[in-house]
Amino acid sequence: MDAGSIRQAYLDYFRERGHVRIARANLVPREDPTTLFTGSGMQPLIPYLLGSPHPDGTRLVDSQPCFRAEDIDEVGDARHTTMFEMLGNWSLGDYFKSEQLPWLFNFLTEVLELDPTRLYVSAFSGSPRWEIPRDDEAIEIWTELFSKAGVSAEVVDLGTAEEAARSGIGEGRIILYDESQCWWSRSGPPSSMPVGEPGGIDSEVFYLFPQLAHDPAFGAHCHPHCDCGRFVEIGNSVFMQYRRTEGGFEPLPQPNVDFGGGLERLAMASIDADDVFEIDLLKSVTAAIDSMLPAGSSGDRRAKRIIADHARAVVFLALDGVEPSNNTQGYVMRRFARRAVRQGLLLGIESGLLSALVGPIAASYQSAYPDLAERAGYITEVLEREESLFRRTLARGVRELPKLAGPLLTGDVVFTLFDTYGFPPELSVEEAQSTGLPVEEGWRARYDQLMAEQRERSRTAAAGMFKGGLADQSEATTRLHTATHLLYKALRLVLGDHVVQRGSNITPERLRFDFSHPAKMTPEEVAEVERIVNENIARDWPMNISQMSPDEAFAEGALGAFGDRYGPVVSVYTAGDPSGEWYSKEICGGPHVHHTGELGRFRIVKEESSSAGVRRIRAVVETVEPVTVSA
Ligand code: ALA
Repeated sequence: MDAGSIRQAYLDYFRERGHVRIARANLVPREDPTTLFTGSGMQPLIPYLLGSPHPDGTRLVDSQPCFRAEDIDEVGDARHTTMFEMLGNWSLGDYFKSEQLPWLFNFLTEVLELDPTRLYVSAFSGSPRWEIPRDDEAIEIWTELFSKAGVSAEVVDLGTAEEAARSGIGEGRIILYDESQCWWSRSGPPSSMPVGEPGGIDSEVFYLFPQLAHDPAFGAHCHPHCDCGRFVEIGNSVFMQYRRTEGGFEPLPQPNVDFGGGLERLAMASIDADDVFEIDLLKSVTAAIDSMLPAGSSGDRRAKRIIADHARAVVFLALDGVEPSNNTQGYVMRRFARRAVRQGLLLGIESGLLSALVGPIAASYQSAYPDLAERAGYITEVLEREESLFRRTLARGVRELPKLAGPLLTGDVVFTLFDTYGFPPELSVEEAQSTGLPVEEGWRARYDQLMAEQRERSRTAAAGMFKGGLADQSEATTRLHTATHLLYKALRLVLGDHVVQRGSNITPERLRFDFSHPAKMTPEEVAEVERIVNENIARDWPMNISQMSPDEAFAEGALGAFGDRYGPVVSVYTAGDPSGEWYSKEICGGPHVHHTGELGRFRIVKEESSSAGVRRIRAVVETVEPVTVSA
């Protein structure tokens, strides 16, 4: 089956089982500044997985375009793409494992007619550390499903991927892994989850491509989580039933199922192609690239894959309203567009690359995304503009680089090339390498430092304006500013992740903080927020500042404010140790106190409505008399 038919078959299959199809979300999460892009189908559903009732009921299905910019370096092999479509079905406290796993198995083997002897599954091996038992229920269900299909299915317990590579799976088909593999949350395994984050154990399905030999570069033995490419993950059922606490986990109000299956990978399995770029959705793109190659050239395969992936990503980003810029999503889009153009140059394609790919991409999505064809004119314009801008920049940068660099490309020169000509740092280094010019070790650190200094300069230049909602930079205002960070985090811990900063105004007398939340806070919630803030004042966390890209900041769990625009480098204030134990992280221009212990006692004076769906808190910090502790 082609990808379009698989998408349709999946949606129909789950609609027949009582699911309501929900509209896909925008690639830019509108109400969640903590993530730049929608990277999984569950992201827009977080409030409902946490227990809020969904207007469409407890069984949902959709197909969600996803963009995982962090996978950029994986693109170029036979199965990674940064942009993909995730088929998803959800049970919000409705059905659980005994429905999900048989439905999925039946869909794969009866509807897609995949060969069951090529399916392998994983299940959770149990974790003494997190006090979560082995998933005997999933093991039992899988055993029965394979047995009914006449396929032998031994259970082998392998623990981590490293142990699996050492011992191999033998005759195993149901492979048990620990929380390093069989666990899913937005922020990864239990140890990296922030308090309040939902997650759970999972059970994946892999498809085996036996025509491929195992590549020992990835370990002595192959196994489902081996990266050599023989096994490809085609779906994952997450049993989302926990929420991270300070020391471990507590159960969510309801156990949920969060299933996600990569459409492109299901399409690979369906046509038995061990290369994702062979499926219809991507083949039309690589064919268009081929037609642009100089006569007689067949082009580097890796470069063609990168172009195909990145072009698809920027077309969808443009569809969802992102435009290339130097800020947040626009910056990422710019990087992807420019990287594709650059790869095109390596293939000898010197103009019109991105705009030529809009048509083939829109055509391959005609049935599911008709808006892509409708907006093709606009998308072409956006990409054409960016491509010609970049080509001019490139020409200038390539001309200036050797002159500026002399015998060594230093971090200073990389900065100047970016600052003056907009020449991307990665490209300076690539250009130097391709011409044999040595590159200073540690250029990146120097470049980052210069970027941070430049940012500081522009901030100072803007001083005197009413910045960041602060009336002044007095000591009292600074203390309330730090208190605002502690408050923001406490609100998310008590009320949930839907809480997003919508405004802030701080004077020496009081702080005022507006945030998204649908209901009046109860007196208990107010008291709990106060308690958490005061507890973290008492812990006397150091306030640390570090500089990084917005992507890195969000990846580390930093909070931002709704609608804020960021430059390529941001300051992140951490209450605690940024790479160890911390309480809050926030993208912020400062200033802050040095230690939270300087704040005094925090008290909420008022909690009221600000506008529809937005609450407003006024709070103060009160000086407390130092307590003398006698020996
Ligand atoms: N949310 C799960 C994933 O992204 C299904 O793999």
